[in-house]
Amino acid sequence: MTKEKNLWGGRFGGEADKTFAEFNRSFRFDHRLLEVDVRASIAHCHGLQVAGVLTAEEANQIQRGLDQILAQAGADSEYFNSIESEDVHSFVETHLVALIGDAGRKLHTGRSRNDQVATDLRLWLRGAIDDLIARVRSTQEALLDLGEANSGVVLPGYTHLQRAQPVQFPHWCLAYFEMFSRDRERLTDTRGRVNVLPLGSAALAGTSYPIDREALARELEFAAISRNSLDAVSDRDFCLEFVGACSLVMVHLSRLAEDIILYTTAEFGFFELSDAVATGSSLMPQKKNPDSMELVRGKAGRVFGHNVSLLTMLKGLPLAYNKDMQEDKEAVFDAFDTTGQCLDVTSLVLRNIDLKEERMSEAASHGHMNATELADYLVRKGMPFREAHETVGRIVMHAIERGVELQELSLGELRSMSALLDADVFEALSLGETLETKAQPGGTSPARVGEALAAARASLLS
Ligand code: ARG
Repeated sequence: MTKEKNLWGGRFGGEADKTFAEFNRSFRFDHRLLEVDVRASIAHCHGLQVAGVLTAEEANQIQRGLDQILAQAGADSEYFNSIESEDVHSFVETHLVALIGDAGRKLHTGRSRNDQVATDLRLWLRGAIDDLIARVRSTQEALLDLGEANSGVVLPGYTHLQRAQPVQFPHWCLAYFEMFSRDRERLTDTRGRVNVLPLGSAALAGTSYPIDREALARELEFAAISRNSLDAVSDRDFCLEFVGACSLVMVHLSRLAEDIILYTTAEFGFFELSDAVATGSSLMPQKKNPDSMELVRGKAGRVFGHNVSLLTMLKGLPLAYNKDMQEDKEAVFDAFDTTGQCLDVTSLVLRNIDLKEERMSEAASHGHMNATELADYLVRKGMPFREAHETVGRIVMHAIERGVELQELSLGELRSMSALLDADVFEALSLGETLETKAQPGGTSPARVGEALAAARASLLS
């Protein structure tokens, strides 16, 4: 592999040490910016032409050369190994000069790699955010399909991981759906702040050529241009916002994964994972392990790590650009790759999950989860809630001693605890009634959940 000529060689008498040169190189990962780097360079070339720095002929040559580099990168997997480059910017420039000669040497006029890399990263991130939003939406679709297909299924709801009150299975699905709706909002919001053009800020002080930055923004489809050149080349808030948004997606995926892992245990027995997303044990023949969900849970930590490394990398930097900032890209790329993969795998798991409905509804009908309904019954009969709570607590203690559910106590037993209890109490204690009464917006009654499913479906179209 031949080594490229440094972009900054003139001032140097000696060669860079090999170990340092390797340490300094970012091409290993920033080659992912090639397409956006070329795109931004074409816009810059047009800017230089309008500014009178390049002739139409030179601009044409540059544009053709850049197109050729892009085509070759798409066609030849070995192309990136063709020269040992410092970074994607020097790779493109070296190839451009090799292709078209002197005109290629004029492209960097009025520009620095500092505004170039900030522009590239914003362009790349815009596409990445659009892609990630679509994948969050797919996971939401998988949750919604699963909820709709199992609208009659119930399961226990938990607090402190203790059985609390029964809920409808689609209500559980929609809880995660909500989290992912907020994630889509957050990514969209982040995109707005990503979509600002730094190009034309040059190294730090602004460009000294009459480049029309608004025209550059239009060509590259940015909504606005940056207002301060020092800030433009040193701002990486948008990277942090992106990785932060990814971190929350990962929090939600990881919590969903944890629920699924728990619910596939023999102890819960609510779900079984498809063979397509589970693995066995090399030693214990009976095992079926939820590796897919465990990896999603595990990879959350990796994305959070990128968040912390970006925060730490930025916090002590003086204005403006510093080479520390080269560390931004691996964090951003890996947060994108990991979050995207985890979304895809989670969708796959959800699309292939087997619900053990009987076991779920059996669990939903045990554990005295209708105790609140009994208290509410007494409240309806005029007892203050605090007293009703106390009374029902004693009834629950009695039922536990007898090893029965509340509805299995006789009316006589119940009445010995409170004379307000009548035969209609058994209706109030039924699973159907328990769900039916949660009828305010956001609750788990069949009517509200039906409406929520419809609203969720509609929201996917927006
Ligand atoms: N590879 C560099 C980065 O990722 C590009 C910018 C380099 N600028 C500079 N002045 N050395 O940040």
